[in-house]
Amino acid sequence: MADVILGIETSCDETAAAVVERATHVRSSVVASQIDRHARYGGVVPEIASRAHVELLTPVVAQALVEGGVADQEIEAVAATAGPGLVGSLLVGVSAAKAFALVWDVPFVAVNHLEGHLYASFLEEPDLELPLVVLLVSGGHTLLVHMEDHGRYRQLGSTIDDAAGEAFDKVARFLGLGYPGGPVIDRIAADGDPHAIAFPRAMLDRDYDFSFSGLKTAVVNHVRKHPDVATADVAASFQEAVVDVLVTKARRAARDVGAKGLCLGGGVAANSSLRSRFVEACDEDGIRPFVPSRSMCTDNAAMIAAAGWWRLRSDGPSPLDTGATPNLRLPVAG
Ligand code: KG4
Ligand code: ZN
Repeated sequence: MADVILGIETSCDETAAAVVERATHVRSSVVASQIDRHARYGGVVPEIASRAHVELLTPVVAQALVEGGVADQEIEAVAATAGPGLVGSLLVGVSAAKAFALVWDVPFVAVNHLEGHLYASFLEEPDLELPLVVLLVSGGHTLLVHMEDHGRYRQLGSTIDDAAGEAFDKVARFLGLGYPGGPVIDRIAADGDPHAIAFPRAMLDRDYDFSFSGLKTAVVNHVRKHPDVATADVAASFQEAVVDVLVTKARRAARDVGAKGLCLGGGVAANSSLRSRFVEACDEDGIRPFVPSRSMCTDNAAMIAAAGWWRLRSDGPSPLDTGATPNLRLPVAG
């Protein structure tokens, strides 16, 4: 059984490599962010991202091996994100991972990026008990997932328009706060009043699906109508509306499926207000909260190595003709 896994993540604008043992022990996790290269365009430029991955991947892998204290020949499998993500970016990581696997004569494992986010919690809480409900909130996805067992997922709900992170990014861009929007709104909101403006909470009483595009429009309309409004109040009230909806639906899902725990994952899980409200809700409902550290919430390769370890156990190695799949979905059970 392959236990020491090199993980590679290049699905968007982070070039990352990590060495993880038995899906729980992170020996190294290196993330080279490309934010500076994209910031002036207000978002990720796919061609710039692919080229940067080509440039950064080899040194990032080398650094992960050195920091992990492992020689090439100790790596027992190579896992890489095969989707979802930007096709050019994914191809860089998948091609490199296959090349390493071939040269080192070890298995290659293709990993679903979303499954990686689901596994981020396990890296820090190996005794996590299933079944769980996971709220996965990133720049591209907003999902409520019932994780019945390892590799067995049931999607309970998703966004019908913008992802939660996308809403943060679009609102920040409109407010002239730069990219990426989540961290800056989080910071500015700390000085604002979350109850200053009553922004809409879409579909709050309905099932587990989400909608954030109306909220974004409400922010735009409010600021146009009240040009002197304090940006901190807009940021705080917008954030409060997003967090309210996310927490309400996540706790409802956990209650409905009888989950033992509620897990948070994805880049938006780095949000201060979401993290504290999530833990409070779990405490009130008597279920265990699992909130990964901020560096495990945003894109990294340790979570890919961890998900790869489980995939290898259940399905064995992936064929070397596995390609990149930009719109890959979470493998769902039943
Ligand atoms: O998971 P991730 O690193 O990349 C994707 O797979 O999309 O998530 C990136 C998203 C961006 O939309 C970013 O604005 C958001 O996560 N984000 C945050 C925070 N940090 C990152 N959103 C709210 N609050 C934060 N502190
Ligand atoms: Zn992600």
